[in-house]
Amino acid sequence: MSDDTPSARAAEASHGAAADPLIRVTDLRKVFPAPRGTKGEDVVAVDGVSFDLMPDECLAIVGESGSGKTTVARMIVGLETVTAGTVTVLGQDRTSAPRSLRDRRVRAREVQYVFQDPYSSLNGRQRIGDVIMSNLKLHGAAGDVRAAAQGILDSVGLAQRFFDRYPRELSGGQRQRVAIARALAADPKVIVLDEAVAALDVSIQAQILNLLSDIKAERKVSYLFISHDLAVVNQISDRMIVMENGTVVDQGGTVELLANPTHPYTRSLRAAVPGPGWKPVRRERLAS
Ligand SMILES: Nc1ncnc2c1ncn2[C@@H]1O[C@H](COP(=O)(O)OP(=O)(O)OP(=O)(O)O)[C@@H](O)[C@H]1O
Ligand SMILES: [Mg+2]
Repeated sequence: MSDDTPSARAAEASHGAAADPLIRVTDLRKVFPAPRGTKGEDVVAVDGVSFDLMPDECLAIVGESGSGKTTVARMIVGLETVTAGTVTVLGQDRTSAPRSLRDRRVRAREVQYVFQDPYSSLNGRQRIGDVIMSNLKLHGAAGDVRAAAQGILDSVGLAQRFFDRYPRELSGGQRQRVAIARALAADPKVIVLDEAVAALDVSIQAQILNLLSDIKAERKVSYLFISHDLAVVNQISDRMIVMENGTVVDQGGTVELLANPTHPYTRSLRAAVPGPGWKPVRRERLAS
């Protein structure tokens, strides 16, 4: 499968050999056992999921709520144990959960995670500049850490005056820029963006998507972009996989798949993509 992705083909054309995937997951499975002492059933959240994330690629994982997108991502970064299957990151086996703090740091340098709600993922008592400086130091930055942090904030469009502010003093879009800046401070190869623009207004969403595209071009970082919103995925991803009930039911180039969705589930997701001029209210109505 890795040999036939658009990115692999491009790499093959330019280097004469297929590039190695940054992330490879094979037959990934996650079962959440029913809580002890209850009559509930085990939840098979992810079942037989396989895909590659190639260098310089934005791969989207799409699917409705509960389809297993976040669980896949959490297994990749070691926040969730793997029931079966394998996770390989930069050629290293990362199937087992990190065993030590050091192990956790090494893995955080490979893959950083940006969550949907930066309010809860940012420490409210830490100033913005400190958020970035701490992650720089944690990942071994040398030299003038303050200047480096200012440079990163600048690269996400946050002026110097934000350096001493607290997260509560920022808008949602600005907070998400801070979350992206914090991820960049680790200089990762991959950033997992889990519904990273879902909580933002459409105009702010567009700004953040543009920012992510610029960062990707400048830093050669790859994205695993999780979203339930095909309109958003259409703007940013090169390739997408479609999940339903824990399994991959469809995959392909974003443009091709959205233009000609063949699987009924992809078609139904496609049908829910709002037309031009849509309002969130209208989208809620569509979803209900
Ligand atoms: N810690 C947990 N314990 C038990 N079940 C869980 C746990 N985490 C997730 N699940 C279940 O696993 C399934 C997949 O959840 P997951 O969060 O991966 O979905 P998702 O596609 O990210 O959904 P959303 O779009 O709403 O974020 C769901 O049925 C969910 O209820
Ligand atoms: Mg999720």
